[in-house]
Amino acid sequence: MSKRTIHCFPDSEALAGAVCEALVALVKAKISSEGVFRIALSGGSTPRRLYQLLAERSLPWDKIHWFWGDERNVPADHADSNYRMVREALLNHIPDHAETVFPIPVQPDQPTLSAQRYEDQLRQEFPDRDFPNWDLALLGLGDDAHTASLFPRTQALAEQRRWCVANEVPQLQTLRYTLTAPAINAAQNIWFLVAGGGKRPALTQVWSDTLDPYQYPAQLIPLAHPGSVWWVTNDALPEAH
Ligand code: 6PG
Repeated sequence: MSKRTIHCFPDSEALAGAVCEALVALVKAKISSEGVFRIALSGGSTPRRLYQLLAERSLPWDKIHWFWGDERNVPADHADSNYRMVREALLNHIPDHAETVFPIPVQPDQPTLSAQRYEDQLRQEFPDRDFPNWDLALLGLGDDAHTASLFPRTQALAEQRRWCVANEVPQLQTLRYTLTAPAINAAQNIWFLVAGGGKRPALTQVWSDTLDPYQYPAQLIPLAHPGSVWWVTNDALPEAH
């Protein structure tokens, strides 16, 4: 098992609090050195509490550029929208800077165009780069070891050139938008937030020495990535840990 940075917590509230502190420190350090902080946000339920805690802090909000690592194929006001979740947990509670918020422009009936438009937007925000060098990419882990919307046995897993794709997910009978693995791996920091005993089997597989990213897509993010940090509740840790 290769070395990686792991922080363990008794519960998801403690995890969210610790990630919030670390994120505030990273934001302040990056803004003081680079003048801007660009983050790819994770969706789902785990990061919601982090976003709520972040909204209570005092940060140079106008210098933080918010992006999404993945999105569902629904309108921005839909209950399943990751954009809506972040707006409700965070953006509605901080000074409005519409020019620094970059949701995936979903048009459910035009998935290829929606993904292309987001990629075009990203290439404007990260000009002259092979892939976006996010200051931080936040990721979750699904019970099936997916991350972002890189689901097991789906086409997006093999994408090595595009930054964002529309990804058919037959096992969910849906389509998702997702950053590709190279577009995530170009991040300077990649933080996985993993909470709950339901994640233990997936985390055990992802951290095992058996590499099979087609089945366990979170393995597309190298454990040895220099900026990789795992924030995990104790009940999600593999037995042997
Ligand atoms: C999404 C997320 C997805 C999520 C995992 C874990 O759009 O749902 O981006 O990759 O991180 O499914 O979800 P939970 O945090 O809800 O367990």
